[in-house]
Amino acid sequence: MPATKESDSLDSKFYKPADAFFPAYSNIALTYDDVTLATLYSEVLPRDTQLDTTLAPGLQLNIPVISADMDTVTESRMAIALALNGGLGIIHYNMPEREQLSEVSRVKNNVHGLIQEPIKVAPEQLIGEVLELIAKKRFAFSTFPVVDGQGKLVGLLSGHVVKPRYAKRKVAELLTPRGHVHTLNKKEMGRDPIAKADKFFTEHPGINKLLLVDDQDRLHGLFTMSDIERIIQERNAQFKPARDASFRLLCGAAVSATRNAFGELDRERILTHVGGMVERGLDVVAVSTAHGHSRGVGDTVKMLRDAFPKLPIMAGNVSSGAGVEFLASCGADCIKVGQGPGSICTTRIVAGVGIPQLTALYVASRAAQKKKVTLLADGGITKSGDIVKALTLAHAVICGGILAGCTEAPGEVMEIGGKLYKKYRGMGSLAAMKEGSAARYGHTTDPTRKVAPEGVEALKEVSGSLDRVLAQLIGGIQSGMGYLGAANLAQLREQARFIRVSPAGQREAAPHDVVELKTGH
Ligand code: XMP
Repeated sequence: MPATKESDSLDSKFYKPADAFFPAYSNIALTYDDVTLATLYSEVLPRDTQLDTTLAPGLQLNIPVISADMDTVTESRMAIALALNGGLGIIHYNMPEREQLSEVSRVKNNVHGLIQEPIKVAPEQLIGEVLELIAKKRFAFSTFPVVDGQGKLVGLLSGHVVKPRYAKRKVAELLTPRGHVHTLNKKEMGRDPIAKADKFFTEHPGINKLLLVDDQDRLHGLFTMSDIERIIQERNAQFKPARDASFRLLCGAAVSATRNAFGELDRERILTHVGGMVERGLDVVAVSTAHGHSRGVGDTVKMLRDAFPKLPIMAGNVSSGAGVEFLASCGADCIKVGQGPGSICTTRIVAGVGIPQLTALYVASRAAQKKKVTLLADGGITKSGDIVKALTLAHAVICGGILAGCTEAPGEVMEIGGKLYKKYRGMGSLAAMKEGSAARYGHTTDPTRKVAPEGVEALKEVSGSLDRVLAQLIGGIQSGMGYLGAANLAQLREQARFIRVSPAGQREAAPHDVVELKTGH
Protein backbone atom coordinates (compact mmCIF):
# COMPACT_ATOMS: atom_id res chain seq x y z
CA MET A 1 0.00 0.00 0.00
CA PRO A 2 1.23 3.55 -0.72
CA ALA A 3 2.11 5.39 2.52
CA THR A 4 -0.07 7.85 4.42
CA LYS A 5 1.03 11.47 4.77
CA GLU A 6 1.99 10.92 8.39
CA SER A 7 4.20 7.92 7.78
CA ASP A 8 5.65 9.64 4.72
CA SER A 9 6.80 12.57 6.79
CA LEU A 10 8.24 10.24 9.44
CA ASP A 11 10.20 8.37 6.76
CA SER A 12 11.42 11.57 5.19
CA LYS A 13 13.00 12.65 8.48
CA PHE A 14 15.32 9.63 8.22
CA TYR A 15 15.50 8.61 4.55
CA LYS A 16 16.56 11.49 2.34
CA PRO A 17 16.75 12.05 -1.38
CA ALA A 18 20.27 12.66 -2.72
CA ASP A 19 19.96 16.47 -2.71
CA ALA A 20 19.11 16.49 0.97
CA PHE A 21 21.31 13.59 2.05
CA PHE A 22 24.71 14.31 0.52
CA PRO A 23 24.89 18.05 1.35
CA ALA A 24 24.12 17.07 4.97
CA TYR A 25 27.37 15.06 4.89
CA SER A 26 29.45 17.72 3.17
CA ASN A 27 32.22 17.35 5.75
CA ILE A 28 32.78 13.62 5.22
CA ALA A 29 33.34 11.56 2.08
CA LEU A 30 31.15 8.48 1.76
CA THR A 31 31.35 5.34 -0.28
CA TYR A 32 29.06 2.43 -1.11
CA ASP A 33 29.14 0.62 2.23
CA ASP A 34 28.60 3.87 4.16
CA VAL A 35 25.00 4.17 3.01
CA THR A 36 21.97 2.05 2.33
CA LEU A 37 18.85 2.69 0.27
CA ALA A 38 15.41 2.81 1.86
CA THR A 39 12.77 0.62 0.26
CA LEU A 40 9.59 2.17 -1.16
CA TYR A 41 6.08 1.01 -1.98
CA SER A 42 6.42 -0.99 -5.19
CA GLU A 43 4.28 -2.46 -7.91
CA VAL A 44 7.37 -3.29 -9.94
CA LEU A 45 8.50 -6.88 -10.25
CA PRO A 46 12.29 -7.20 -10.52
CA ARG A 47 12.03 -9.22 -13.73
CA ASP A 48 10.00 -6.44 -15.39
CA THR A 49 12.53 -3.68 -14.76
CA GLN A 50 14.19 -2.05 -17.77
CA LEU A 51 17.95 -1.53 -17.65
CA ASP A 52 18.61 0.32 -20.91
CA THR A 53 20.68 3.47 -20.68
CA THR A 54 21.56 6.13 -23.24
CA LEU A 55 25.10 7.36 -22.68
CA ALA A 56 25.40 9.72 -25.65
CA PRO A 57 23.45 10.39 -28.83
CA GLY A 58 23.60 7.10 -30.70
CA LEU A 59 25.18 5.18 -27.82
CA GLN A 60 22.58 3.07 -26.09
CA LEU A 61 23.27 0.02 -23.92
CA ASN A 62 20.70 -2.53 -22.85
CA ILE A 63 22.37 -3.07 -19.49
CA PRO A 64 24.34 -0.34 -17.66
CA VAL A 65 27.57 -2.33 -17.35
CA ILE A 66 30.89 -1.46 -19.00
CA SER A 67 34.10 -3.44 -18.63
CA ALA A 68 37.19 -1.45 -17.65
CA ASP A 69 39.88 -0.60 -20.23
CA MET A 70 42.48 -2.63 -18.38
CA ASP A 71 44.89 -5.16 -19.82
CA THR A 72 43.65 -7.90 -17.51
CA VAL A 73 39.97 -7.16 -18.18
CA THR A 74 39.00 -6.05 -21.69
CA GLU A 75 40.15 -7.31 -25.03
CA SER A 76 37.91 -8.43 -27.90
CA ARG A 77 36.72 -11.60 -26.18
CA MET A 78 35.37 -9.72 -23.17
CA ALA A 79 33.97 -6.92 -25.36
CA ILE A 80 32.10 -9.43 -27.55
CA ALA A 81 30.69 -11.32 -24.57
CA LEU A 82 29.62 -8.13 -22.81
CA ALA A 83 28.01 -6.59 -25.91
CA LEU A 84 26.12 -9.86 -26.48
CA ASN A 85 24.68 -9.37 -23.00
CA GLY A 86 23.69 -5.77 -23.75
CA GLY A 87 26.71 -3.98 -22.23
CA LEU A 88 29.95 -2.49 -23.57
CA GLY A 89 33.62 -3.38 -23.42
CA ILE A 90 36.35 -0.75 -23.69
CA ILE A 91 39.46 -2.27 -25.30
CA HIS A 92 42.54 -1.20 -23.33
CA TYR A 93 45.47 0.60 -24.93
CA ASN A 94 48.36 -1.31 -23.39
CA MET A 95 49.16 -2.88 -26.76
CA PRO A 96 50.63 -1.68 -30.05
CA GLU A 97 48.18 0.55 -31.95
CA ARG A 98 47.81 -1.90 -34.84
CA GLU A 99 46.81 -4.59 -32.36
CA GLN A 100 44.17 -2.35 -30.83
CA LEU A 101 42.83 -1.77 -34.37
CA SER A 102 42.57 -5.55 -34.87
CA GLU A 103 40.87 -5.99 -31.52
CA VAL A 104 38.23 -3.42 -32.51
CA SER A 105 37.78 -5.19 -35.86
CA ARG A 106 37.32 -8.52 -34.09
CA VAL A 107 34.41 -7.12 -32.10
CA LYS A 108 32.84 -5.25 -34.98
CA ASN A 109 33.14 -8.19 -37.40
CA ASN A 110 31.91 -10.75 -34.93
CA VAL A 111 28.90 -12.61 -36.18
CA HIS A 112 27.46 -14.46 -33.27
CA GLY A 113 26.82 -18.05 -34.23
CA LEU A 114 29.13 -17.96 -37.26
CA ILE A 115 32.34 -19.90 -36.74
CA GLN A 116 34.58 -17.52 -38.64
CA GLU A 117 37.65 -19.70 -38.78
CA PRO A 118 36.39 -23.27 -38.92
CA ILE A 119 38.89 -26.12 -38.72
CA LYS A 120 39.44 -27.34 -42.27
CA VAL A 121 41.04 -30.40 -43.81
CA ALA A 122 42.76 -30.88 -47.19
CA PRO A 123 41.66 -33.34 -49.90
CA GLU A 124 45.00 -35.14 -49.91
CA GLN A 125 44.98 -35.87 -46.15
CA LEU A 126 44.24 -39.38 -44.91
CA ILE A 127 41.24 -40.07 -42.70
CA GLY A 128 43.76 -41.48 -40.20
CA GLU A 129 45.41 -38.05 -40.00
CA VAL A 130 42.07 -36.40 -39.41
CA LEU A 131 41.41 -38.85 -36.56
CA GLU A 132 44.81 -38.01 -35.07
CA LEU A 133 43.99 -34.30 -35.29
CA ILE A 134 40.68 -34.85 -33.47
CA ALA A 135 42.39 -36.83 -30.72
CA LYS A 136 45.29 -34.38 -30.35
CA LYS A 137 43.13 -31.25 -30.22
CA ARG A 138 40.30 -33.01 -28.38
CA PHE A 139 37.71 -31.76 -30.86
CA ALA A 140 34.18 -32.63 -29.88
CA PHE A 141 33.14 -32.70 -33.56
CA SER A 142 34.23 -34.72 -36.58
CA THR A 143 32.71 -32.97 -39.60
CA PHE A 144 35.09 -30.66 -41.49
CA PRO A 145 34.93 -28.44 -44.55
CA VAL A 146 37.49 -29.52 -47.14
CA VAL A 147 39.42 -26.76 -48.92
CA ASP A 148 42.22 -26.72 -51.49
CA GLY A 149 45.51 -24.80 -51.29
CA GLN A 150 43.77 -21.57 -52.39
CA GLY A 151 41.15 -21.80 -49.65
CA LYS A 152 38.44 -22.85 -52.16
CA LEU A 153 35.72 -25.15 -50.95
CA VAL A 154 36.09 -28.68 -52.33
CA GLY A 155 33.50 -30.47 -50.21
CA LEU A 156 32.46 -31.48 -46.71
CA LEU A 157 33.94 -34.39 -44.79
CA SER A 158 31.07 -35.83 -42.80
CA GLY A 159 31.60 -37.35 -39.36
CA HIS A 160 29.99 -40.58 -40.69
CA VAL A 161 33.17 -41.41 -42.62
CA VAL A 162 35.71 -40.20 -40.08
CA LYS A 163 36.18 -43.71 -38.65
CA PRO A 164 39.26 -45.87 -38.00
CA ARG A 165 38.05 -48.41 -40.58
CA TYR A 166 38.65 -45.78 -43.32
CA ALA A 167 41.99 -44.60 -41.86
CA LYS A 168 43.95 -45.35 -45.02
CA ARG A 169 41.51 -43.67 -47.40
CA LYS A 170 42.03 -40.13 -48.61
CA VAL A 171 39.66 -37.31 -47.66
CA ALA A 172 39.16 -36.64 -51.40
CA GLU A 173 37.67 -40.14 -51.86
CA LEU A 174 35.11 -39.92 -49.05
CA LEU A 175 34.02 -36.29 -48.96
CA THR A 176 30.59 -35.04 -49.92
CA PRO A 177 31.39 -33.22 -53.15
CA ARG A 178 31.06 -29.45 -53.48
CA GLY A 179 27.94 -29.72 -55.62
CA HIS A 180 26.07 -31.40 -52.75
CA VAL A 181 27.25 -29.08 -50.00
CA HIS A 182 24.84 -26.37 -48.85
CA THR A 183 26.37 -22.91 -48.91
CA LEU A 184 25.38 -19.29 -48.47
CA ASN A 185 27.16 -16.45 -50.26
CA LYS A 186 28.63 -13.86 -47.89
CA LYS A 187 26.78 -11.16 -49.82
CA GLU A 188 23.45 -12.78 -48.96
CA MET A 189 23.99 -12.84 -45.18
CA GLY A 190 21.95 -9.66 -44.73
CA ARG A 191 21.51 -7.77 -41.47
CA ASP A 192 20.46 -10.79 -39.49
CA PRO A 193 22.60 -13.82 -40.42
CA ILE A 194 21.14 -15.89 -37.58
CA ALA A 195 17.59 -15.51 -38.93
CA LYS A 196 18.89 -16.46 -42.37
CA ALA A 197 20.64 -19.58 -41.06
CA ASP A 198 17.63 -20.49 -38.91
CA LYS A 199 15.33 -20.33 -41.93
CA PHE A 200 17.76 -22.44 -43.93
CA PHE A 201 17.84 -25.23 -41.31
CA THR A 202 14.03 -25.24 -41.09
CA GLU A 203 13.77 -25.58 -44.86
CA HIS A 204 16.41 -28.34 -45.08
CA PRO A 205 15.53 -31.10 -42.60
CA GLY A 206 18.47 -33.37 -41.78
CA ILE A 207 21.10 -30.76 -42.77
CA ASN A 208 22.94 -29.30 -39.79
CA LYS A 209 25.85 -27.41 -41.37
CA LEU A 210 25.72 -24.34 -43.60
CA LEU A 211 28.97 -23.04 -45.11
CA LEU A 212 29.63 -19.41 -45.96
CA VAL A 213 31.55 -18.68 -49.19
CA ASP A 214 32.44 -15.68 -51.37
CA ASP A 215 32.07 -15.20 -55.13
CA GLN A 216 35.32 -17.13 -55.68
CA ASP A 217 33.94 -20.01 -53.58
CA ARG A 218 36.49 -19.41 -50.82
CA LEU A 219 35.34 -20.55 -47.40
CA HIS A 220 34.50 -17.79 -44.90
CA GLY A 221 32.73 -19.56 -42.10
CA LEU A 222 30.35 -22.19 -40.89
CA PHE A 223 26.96 -22.17 -39.17
CA THR A 224 25.88 -25.22 -37.19
CA MET A 225 22.25 -25.92 -36.36
CA SER A 226 22.95 -26.49 -32.65
CA ASP A 227 24.62 -23.05 -32.29
CA ILE A 228 21.73 -21.37 -34.09
CA GLU A 229 19.17 -23.10 -31.91
CA ARG A 230 20.97 -22.00 -28.75
CA ILE A 231 21.14 -18.41 -29.98
CA ILE A 232 17.46 -18.32 -30.94
CA GLN A 233 16.67 -19.50 -27.42
CA GLU A 234 18.90 -16.76 -25.96
CA ARG A 235 17.15 -14.16 -28.10
CA ASN A 236 14.16 -14.53 -25.91
CA ALA A 237 16.35 -13.28 -23.06
CA GLN A 238 15.24 -9.99 -21.57
CA PHE A 239 18.36 -8.02 -22.42
CA LYS A 240 19.23 -7.89 -26.08
CA PRO A 241 22.79 -7.52 -27.39
CA ALA A 242 24.08 -3.96 -27.68
CA ARG A 243 24.36 -3.28 -31.41
CA ASP A 244 24.96 -0.38 -33.79
CA ALA A 245 22.62 0.69 -36.61
CA SER A 246 24.19 -1.94 -38.88
CA PHE A 247 23.48 -4.70 -36.37
CA ARG A 248 27.15 -5.03 -35.35
CA LEU A 249 28.10 -5.39 -31.70
CA LEU A 250 29.07 -2.17 -29.93
CA CYS A 251 32.72 -1.64 -29.13
CA GLY A 252 34.67 1.03 -27.26
CA ALA A 253 38.40 1.63 -27.09
CA ALA A 254 40.58 3.69 -24.82
CA VAL A 255 43.36 6.08 -25.75
CA SER A 256 45.64 8.17 -23.60
CA ALA A 257 46.83 11.72 -24.02
CA THR A 258 50.05 10.53 -25.68
CA ARG A 259 52.95 13.00 -25.82
CA ASN A 260 55.68 13.20 -28.45
CA ALA A 261 59.45 13.43 -27.85
CA PHE A 262 59.11 17.19 -27.12
CA GLY A 263 56.53 16.61 -24.42
CA GLU A 264 53.71 18.00 -26.56
CA LEU A 265 50.42 16.26 -27.22
CA ASP A 266 51.05 13.88 -30.13
CA ARG A 267 48.09 15.16 -32.14
CA GLU A 268 48.89 13.42 -35.38
CA ARG A 269 49.41 10.04 -33.79
CA ILE A 270 46.22 10.19 -31.70
CA LEU A 271 44.08 11.42 -34.61
CA THR A 272 45.44 8.83 -37.05
CA HIS A 273 44.91 6.02 -34.59
CA VAL A 274 41.39 7.04 -33.53
CA GLY A 275 40.56 7.63 -37.23
CA GLY A 276 41.64 4.06 -37.97
CA MET A 277 39.42 2.71 -35.20
CA VAL A 278 36.47 4.82 -36.38
CA GLU A 279 36.92 3.39 -39.89
CA ARG A 280 36.64 -0.06 -38.34
CA GLY A 281 33.36 0.92 -36.74
CA LEU A 282 34.38 2.07 -33.24
CA ASP A 283 31.31 3.29 -31.33
CA VAL A 284 32.95 5.27 -28.55
CA VAL A 285 36.44 6.41 -27.64
CA ALA A 286 37.49 6.77 -24.00
CA VAL A 287 40.23 9.23 -23.09
CA SER A 288 41.33 7.34 -20.02
CA THR A 289 43.68 8.93 -17.55
CA ALA A 290 44.07 9.14 -13.81
CA HIS A 291 43.58 12.94 -13.84
CA GLY A 292 40.97 14.05 -16.34
CA HIS A 293 40.76 17.62 -15.04
CA SER A 294 44.02 18.50 -16.76
CA ARG A 295 45.17 20.38 -19.81
CA GLY A 296 46.43 17.35 -21.72
CA VAL A 297 43.15 15.46 -21.37
CA GLY A 298 41.08 18.57 -22.15
CA ASP A 299 43.13 19.25 -25.30
CA THR A 300 42.82 15.62 -26.39
CA VAL A 301 39.05 15.65 -25.93
CA LYS A 302 38.72 18.97 -27.81
CA MET A 303 40.88 17.69 -30.64
CA LEU A 304 38.84 14.48 -30.95
CA ARG A 305 35.56 16.38 -30.77
CA ASP A 306 36.65 18.66 -33.63
CA ALA A 307 37.95 15.79 -35.74
CA PHE A 308 35.04 13.40 -35.10
CA PRO A 309 31.96 15.53 -34.38
CA LYS A 310 29.60 12.54 -34.10
CA LEU A 311 31.82 10.09 -32.20
CA PRO A 312 30.71 9.60 -28.58
CA ILE A 313 33.58 10.48 -26.23
CA MET A 314 34.10 9.25 -22.69
CA ALA A 315 36.69 11.08 -20.63
CA GLY A 316 38.12 11.04 -17.15
CA ASN A 317 38.78 10.36 -14.47
CA VAL A 318 37.51 13.10 -12.21
CA SER A 319 35.90 13.37 -8.79
CA SER A 320 34.77 17.01 -8.73
CA GLY A 321 32.02 19.13 -10.23
CA ALA A 322 34.64 21.39 -11.82
CA GLY A 323 36.26 18.34 -13.41
CA VAL A 324 32.95 17.27 -14.94
CA GLU A 325 32.21 20.77 -16.25
CA PHE A 326 35.70 21.07 -17.70
CA LEU A 327 35.52 17.80 -19.66
CA ALA A 328 31.93 18.49 -20.74
CA SER A 329 32.98 21.91 -22.07
CA CYS A 330 35.81 20.26 -23.98
CA GLY A 331 33.23 18.08 -25.74
CA ALA A 332 33.02 14.83 -23.76
CA ASP A 333 29.63 13.11 -23.65
CA CYS A 334 30.21 10.74 -20.73
CA ILE A 335 32.41 11.50 -17.77
CA LYS A 336 34.24 8.79 -15.86
CA VAL A 337 34.10 9.39 -12.14
CA GLY A 338 36.49 7.61 -9.79
CA GLN A 339 39.83 8.56 -8.34
CA GLY A 340 41.18 5.87 -6.11
CA PRO A 341 38.17 3.60 -5.46
CA GLY A 342 39.44 0.76 -7.65
CA SER A 343 40.23 -2.58 -6.02
CA ILE A 344 43.82 -2.46 -7.32
CA CYS A 345 44.31 1.32 -6.88
CA THR A 346 46.80 2.87 -4.55
CA THR A 347 46.38 6.47 -5.76
CA ARG A 348 44.98 7.59 -2.41
CA ILE A 349 47.86 6.00 -0.53
CA VAL A 350 50.62 7.04 -2.92
CA ALA A 351 49.42 10.52 -3.88
CA GLY A 352 47.10 11.26 -0.98
CA VAL A 353 44.28 12.29 -3.33
CA GLY A 354 40.89 11.03 -4.45
CA ILE A 355 37.39 10.95 -3.03
CA PRO A 356 35.34 8.01 -1.73
CA GLN A 357 33.09 7.08 -4.57
CA LEU A 358 29.51 7.93 -3.54
CA THR A 359 30.34 11.48 -2.50
CA ALA A 360 32.38 11.91 -5.69
CA LEU A 361 29.44 10.62 -7.72
CA TYR A 362 26.95 12.92 -6.04
CA VAL A 363 29.08 16.04 -6.58
CA ALA A 364 29.84 15.02 -10.16
CA SER A 365 26.21 14.15 -10.89
CA ARG A 366 24.94 17.63 -10.11
CA ALA A 367 27.50 19.17 -12.45
CA ALA A 368 26.63 16.54 -15.06
CA GLN A 369 22.94 17.47 -14.89
CA LYS A 370 23.84 21.10 -15.49
CA LYS A 371 26.05 20.25 -18.44
CA LYS A 372 23.70 17.58 -19.82
CA VAL A 373 26.36 14.87 -19.91
CA THR A 374 26.17 11.35 -18.53
CA LEU A 375 28.22 9.83 -15.72
CA LEU A 376 30.04 6.53 -15.44
CA ALA A 377 30.79 5.23 -11.95
CA ASP A 378 34.28 3.80 -12.39
CA GLY A 379 35.85 1.53 -9.78
CA GLY A 380 35.16 0.21 -6.33
CA ILE A 381 32.28 -2.08 -7.28
CA THR A 382 32.48 -5.38 -5.47
CA LYS A 383 28.85 -6.53 -5.40
CA SER A 384 25.53 -5.93 -7.15
CA GLY A 385 24.27 -3.75 -4.30
CA ASP A 386 27.12 -1.31 -5.05
CA ILE A 387 25.89 -1.10 -8.63
CA VAL A 388 22.36 -0.26 -7.48
CA LYS A 389 23.75 2.52 -5.28
CA ALA A 390 26.01 3.79 -8.10
CA LEU A 391 23.07 3.88 -10.51
CA THR A 392 21.14 6.21 -8.23
CA LEU A 393 23.65 8.87 -9.37
CA ALA A 394 25.31 7.55 -12.55
CA HIS A 395 24.11 6.22 -15.91
CA ALA A 396 26.32 3.13 -16.00
CA VAL A 397 29.10 1.47 -14.03
CA ILE A 398 32.60 0.51 -15.12
CA CYS A 399 33.80 -2.75 -13.60
CA GLY A 400 37.32 -4.13 -13.40
CA GLY A 401 37.92 -6.55 -10.56
CA ILE A 402 34.45 -8.04 -10.54
CA LEU A 403 34.95 -9.19 -14.17
CA ALA A 404 38.67 -10.01 -14.08
CA GLY A 405 38.14 -13.63 -12.99
CA CYS A 406 35.84 -14.38 -15.94
CA THR A 407 36.87 -16.81 -18.67
CA GLU A 408 36.58 -13.96 -21.19
CA ALA A 409 39.14 -11.73 -19.44
CA PRO A 410 42.67 -11.89 -20.93
CA GLY A 411 45.30 -13.97 -19.19
CA GLU A 412 46.05 -17.51 -18.18
CA VAL A 413 44.38 -19.42 -15.38
CA MET A 414 46.83 -20.50 -12.67
CA GLU A 415 46.38 -22.98 -9.87
CA ILE A 416 47.58 -22.13 -6.39
CA GLY A 417 46.84 -24.40 -3.45
CA GLY A 418 44.06 -26.18 -5.34
CA LYS A 419 42.29 -22.96 -6.31
CA LEU A 420 42.17 -21.33 -9.75
CA TYR A 421 43.19 -17.70 -10.23
CA LYS A 422 43.70 -15.11 -12.96
CA LYS A 423 46.03 -12.14 -12.80
CA TYR A 424 44.43 -8.72 -12.23
CA ARG A 425 46.60 -5.64 -12.14
CA GLY A 426 46.19 -1.88 -11.94
CA MET A 427 47.05 0.04 -15.09
CA GLY A 428 49.21 2.17 -12.81
CA SER A 429 51.10 -0.83 -11.46
CA LEU A 430 54.77 -0.99 -12.37
CA ALA A 431 54.29 -4.03 -14.62
CA ALA A 432 51.42 -2.44 -16.58
CA MET A 433 53.20 0.89 -16.91
CA LYS A 434 56.26 -0.83 -18.33
CA GLU A 435 54.00 -2.25 -21.00
CA GLY A 436 52.77 1.18 -22.00
CA SER A 437 50.13 2.58 -19.67
CA ALA A 438 52.46 5.06 -17.97
CA ALA A 439 50.96 7.98 -19.93
CA ARG A 440 47.68 7.39 -18.10
CA TYR A 441 49.42 8.36 -14.87
CA GLY A 442 51.46 11.19 -16.38
CA HIS A 443 54.73 9.21 -16.28
CA THR A 444 57.15 8.36 -19.05
CA THR A 445 57.69 4.75 -20.10
CA ASP A 446 61.45 5.19 -19.84
CA PRO A 447 62.46 2.39 -17.42
CA THR A 448 65.44 4.41 -16.18
CA ARG A 449 63.13 7.13 -14.81
CA LYS A 450 61.83 6.63 -11.31
CA VAL A 451 58.04 6.31 -11.25
CA ALA A 452 55.72 5.86 -8.32
CA PRO A 453 53.22 3.11 -9.11
CA GLU A 454 49.59 3.87 -8.25
CA GLY A 455 48.29 0.36 -8.54
CA VAL A 456 49.10 -3.17 -7.52
CA GLU A 457 49.36 -6.54 -9.24
CA ALA A 458 46.98 -9.08 -7.81
CA LEU A 459 45.09 -12.31 -8.39
CA LYS A 460 41.35 -12.90 -8.71
CA GLU A 461 39.73 -16.22 -8.15
CA VAL A 462 38.36 -17.61 -11.41
CA SER A 463 34.65 -16.87 -11.53
CA GLY A 464 33.46 -18.76 -14.63
CA SER A 465 31.82 -17.31 -17.70
CA LEU A 466 30.82 -13.66 -18.03
CA ASP A 467 27.22 -14.80 -18.69
CA ARG A 468 27.15 -16.38 -15.25
CA VAL A 469 28.74 -13.45 -13.43
CA LEU A 470 26.48 -10.96 -15.20
CA ALA A 471 23.36 -12.99 -14.45
CA GLN A 472 24.11 -12.54 -10.74
CA LEU A 473 24.86 -8.83 -11.07
CA ILE A 474 21.82 -8.09 -13.23
CA GLY A 475 19.60 -10.11 -10.89
CA GLY A 476 20.84 -7.95 -8.01
CA ILE A 477 20.26 -4.68 -9.88
CA GLN A 478 16.72 -5.71 -10.82
CA SER A 479 16.05 -6.77 -7.29
CA GLY A 480 17.20 -3.39 -5.94
CA MET A 481 14.98 -1.60 -8.43
CA GLY A 482 12.02 -3.73 -7.43
CA TYR A 483 12.55 -2.73 -3.77
CA LEU A 484 12.52 0.92 -4.75
CA GLY A 485 9.51 0.64 -7.08
CA ALA A 486 11.71 1.79 -9.96
CA ALA A 487 10.68 0.39 -13.34
CA ASN A 488 13.68 1.90 -15.13
CA LEU A 489 16.99 3.59 -14.39
CA ALA A 490 15.60 7.14 -14.62
CA GLN A 491 13.10 6.25 -11.88
CA LEU A 492 15.87 4.72 -9.79
CA ARG A 493 17.80 8.00 -9.97
CA GLU A 494 14.68 9.99 -9.05
CA GLN A 495 13.33 7.80 -6.28
CA ALA A 496 16.41 6.74 -4.33
CA ARG A 497 16.50 7.80 -0.67
CA PHE A 498 19.61 7.33 1.41
CA ILE A 499 20.61 6.88 5.01
CA ARG A 500 24.03 6.56 6.61
CA VAL A 501 24.94 3.17 8.09
CA SER A 502 26.75 2.72 11.40
CA PRO A 503 29.73 0.30 11.66
CA ALA A 504 27.41 -2.17 13.47
CA GLY A 505 24.90 -1.70 10.64
CA GLN A 506 27.61 -2.56 8.12
CA ARG A 507 28.38 -5.78 9.98
CA GLU A 508 24.68 -6.57 10.13
CA ALA A 509 24.46 -6.21 6.33
CA ALA A 510 26.70 -9.21 5.63
CA PRO A 511 26.03 -12.77 6.77
CA HIS A 512 26.86 -12.91 10.47
CA ASP A 513 26.76 -15.34 13.39
CA VAL A 514 26.57 -18.29 11.04
CA VAL A 515 29.01 -20.63 9.38
CA GLU A 516 28.30 -20.07 5.72
CA LEU A 517 27.94 -23.06 3.42
CA LYS A 518 29.35 -22.51 -0.08
CA THR A 519 26.64 -24.08 -2.18
CA GLY A 520 25.89 -23.43 -5.83
CA HIS A 521 29.09 -21.43 -6.46
P1 XMP B 1 37.69 -2.06 -9.77
O1 XMP B 1 37.38 -1.67 -8.37
O2 XMP B 1 36.48 -2.38 -10.56
O3 XMP B 1 38.34 -0.75 -10.42
O4 XMP B 1 38.70 -3.15 -9.82
C1 XMP B 1 38.63 -0.63 -11.79
C2 XMP B 1 39.02 0.80 -12.11
O5 XMP B 1 40.19 1.18 -11.38
C3 XMP B 1 40.89 2.20 -12.11
N1 XMP B 1 42.30 1.78 -12.20
C4 XMP B 1 43.27 2.24 -11.40
N2 XMP B 1 43.26 3.21 -10.45
N3 XMP B 1 45.55 2.81 -10.04
C5 XMP B 1 44.42 3.51 -9.79
O6 XMP B 1 44.43 4.40 -8.94
C6 XMP B 1 45.64 1.83 -10.97
O7 XMP B 1 46.68 1.22 -11.19
C7 XMP B 1 44.44 1.55 -11.70
N4 XMP B 1 44.15 0.68 -12.72
C8 XMP B 1 42.83 0.85 -12.97
C9 XMP B 1 40.23 2.33 -13.46
O8 XMP B 1 39.43 3.49 -13.44
C10 XMP B 1 39.40 1.06 -13.56
O9 XMP B 1 38.31 1.19 -14.41
